[in-house]
Amino acid sequence: MYKEYKRFTGIATPFYYYDLDLLRDTLDTLNREAGKYNYKVHYALKANADSQVLQIIRDAGLGADCVSGNEVQKSLNIGFPAKDIYYAGVGKTDDEIRTGLAGNIGCFNCESVQEITVMNQIASDMNMVAKIALRINPDINSNTHSYITTGIQENKFGIQLWELDEVLSVIRQLKNINLIGLHFHIGSQIIRLEIFRKLCLKVNEINDWFIERKYFLPVLNLGGGLGIDYHDPDSNPVPDFRNYFKTVYDTLLPQPWQEIHFELGRSVVGQMGSLISKVLYIKNGKTKNFAIMDSGMTELIRPALYHSFHKIVNLYKSNLNGTFLPYLKYDVVGPVCETTDFLGKEVELPRTERGDLFAICSVGAYGQSMASNYNLRERAGVTYSDDLSG
Ligand code: LLP
Repeated sequence: MYKEYKRFTGIATPFYYYDLDLLRDTLDTLNREAGKYNYKVHYALKANADSQVLQIIRDAGLGADCVSGNEVQKSLNIGFPAKDIYYAGVGKTDDEIRTGLAGNIGCFNCESVQEITVMNQIASDMNMVAKIALRINPDINSNTHSYITTGIQENKFGIQLWELDEVLSVIRQLKNINLIGLHFHIGSQIIRLEIFRKLCLKVNEINDWFIERKYFLPVLNLGGGLGIDYHDPDSNPVPDFRNYFKTVYDTLLPQPWQEIHFELGRSVVGQMGSLISKVLYIKNGKTKNFAIMDSGMTELIRPALYHSFHKIVNLYKSNLNGTFLPYLKYDVVGPVCETTDFLGKEVELPRTERGDLFAICSVGAYGQSMASNYNLRERAGVTYSDDLSG
């Protein structure tokens, strides 16, 4: 992509650039590797809910994993089969539950006894039966950034192991609830496959516990969380799905009647996106140089929120056919009135000037979907590789 920046001429910055060929390659690899074991993958819309991206993912045969009524509605509108739409979330409103029921979605992943009781009532009012899975908090530390860890006791997510007896005794009395599965999600940007192995071992124990109590649940959903290579996206544009699924296959002990599901977000769309942004000003300070960009935390909040690293490339200066430019260190910052508004710190870049074009890499997941219009900034547009000529 870096060599092709001339194709960006005339497009107003900042914008998200989505390499749809890379998305298709990623989906091909994902389907090939998951297909080996008959695993079913749902795509987590929260990572990126762009319509064109969703259509490609739908055409590749993935289901949809949603966390709001609007995501459920969007999945239905895009044409994901209703049975392949799953809806998780710790705080579903009554209206959102109605949206899911009216759409006849495949499963609600439920996070508390109270939620299940409310869902039963709403389903009864609508004369329906809600299919649910229990989102269980397995108390496993995914050792990722604490803000995106979800599976330990101190997190708000899921039903705790010690609550399961009570949950089952409540569910037994609810006529409009049909328990079909168990659901787990322990965090995001997990790079060490050992963490998923630990999860599988725990799921084996929990699955046995249910079987001992004569619950023969057809769905085991292991959630998402597979990480991507933010430091070297060019060498690893497609995540290591092969070893990810193999780790699960080698460790998980499902019963023959059980389907294994996943809810992947970042690993599907992360690497296909770049934020293309122009340098507005250079400030050379005594201790630091600043490259002040026309994009910032409003287009990509991950560095500000989680201190995340994104590779940054000066597209105009990175391809000079061997011409040597001195490298300097820059803090690459946005225009927003917040000190935390940065895209990269101490980034080594060829000497940069006003007007240079930067690519902030690996922003396909949780970039556009977490954007805001803070400071009344305009939302950045999207350019798709399919639409560029040349
Ligand atoms: N399933 C559930 C229940 C989830 O909560 C999530 C993500 C996923 C699946 C998809 O996880 P993934 O495969 O994308 O890791 N904004 C943060 C990430 C938050 C993830 C929230 N849950 C970031 O930018 O790193």
